[in-house]
Amino acid sequence: MINKAVLPVAGKGTRFLPATKEIAKEIIPVIDKPLIHYSVEEAIQSNISDFVFITSREKSELQDYFTPNYELELFLKEKGKLHLLEDFKKFYDLNFTYIRQNYAKGFGHAILLSEQAIGNQAFAVILPDDLIISETPVIKQMIEIYNEYKCSLIAFMKVDKNDVSRYGIASGKMISDNLFEIEQLIEKPEKDKAPSNYAVIGRYILTPEIFNILKNSKPGAGGEIQLTDAIIELMKTQKVLGYFFEGNRYDAGTPIGFIEAFINIALKREDTRERTLDIIKDIMKNENL
Ligand code: G1P
Repeated sequence: MINKAVLPVAGKGTRFLPATKEIAKEIIPVIDKPLIHYSVEEAIQSNISDFVFITSREKSELQDYFTPNYELELFLKEKGKLHLLEDFKKFYDLNFTYIRQNYAKGFGHAILLSEQAIGNQAFAVILPDDLIISETPVIKQMIEIYNEYKCSLIAFMKVDKNDVSRYGIASGKMISDNLFEIEQLIEKPEKDKAPSNYAVIGRYILTPEIFNILKNSKPGAGGEIQLTDAIIELMKTQKVLGYFFEGNRYDAGTPIGFIEAFINIALKREDTRERTLDIIKDIMKNENL
């Protein structure tokens, strides 16, 4: 059973400076919910109950966010507006563990720090920067596949050939319409060294054997301990599958990706759709488009 998820959130968010000078990138909202809210919501809807945040000293507001704020609740109660926090209560019964990554040694190192909290079981990894809106939560889609194949699994989407150097890239043997057995995997290859345009997106299901491999991993791309390198090692003893998920992914790690997420989610939400459409129409008209 998969009921635990690791969320690496120790990054400095340099692409969002100056906003990230004083606040965690994951607290920046898309409409009225911080980025991290979407990740945790996706996981809850996938029956995840235990969350392991790999965080850093300047990110304590992430910890506060999922903790009850009684002063605010009292204030809202007095104003007859307690319903505004109603939807939030689902977070209070979950188990959150916060582990600080004291050295910026990379994504693989962050995952290794979760070993004790995860124990000897398969687990999910969610990168909040990859905001995915889908009919069925992506982690839920992936858990269903894990239950069938009982091996590690990575989410994929096809990207423009010019963008391959921003992602882990894989190739392999298709075993169904949306599933392939990974044969080759490489972290952030140059365009002419990429085996395909299949890009790793920030959702993983990993078997616990990854921890022993990470313990012996040497720094890779960017001088950091890379999860991708550990997965390549894991592939020597276990099958690892690639999964083309159903859903729309927005790269909330960049301001432009954030704008895309903002507009698309505003158009999907019933309470914001009409007005957003009007705004877009006005802009198009004013810009003579
Ligand atoms: C990480 C992974 C990379 C993956 C990407 C997806 O990179 O190392 O393989 O394609 O997430 O968002 P990062 O963007 O953290 O540098």
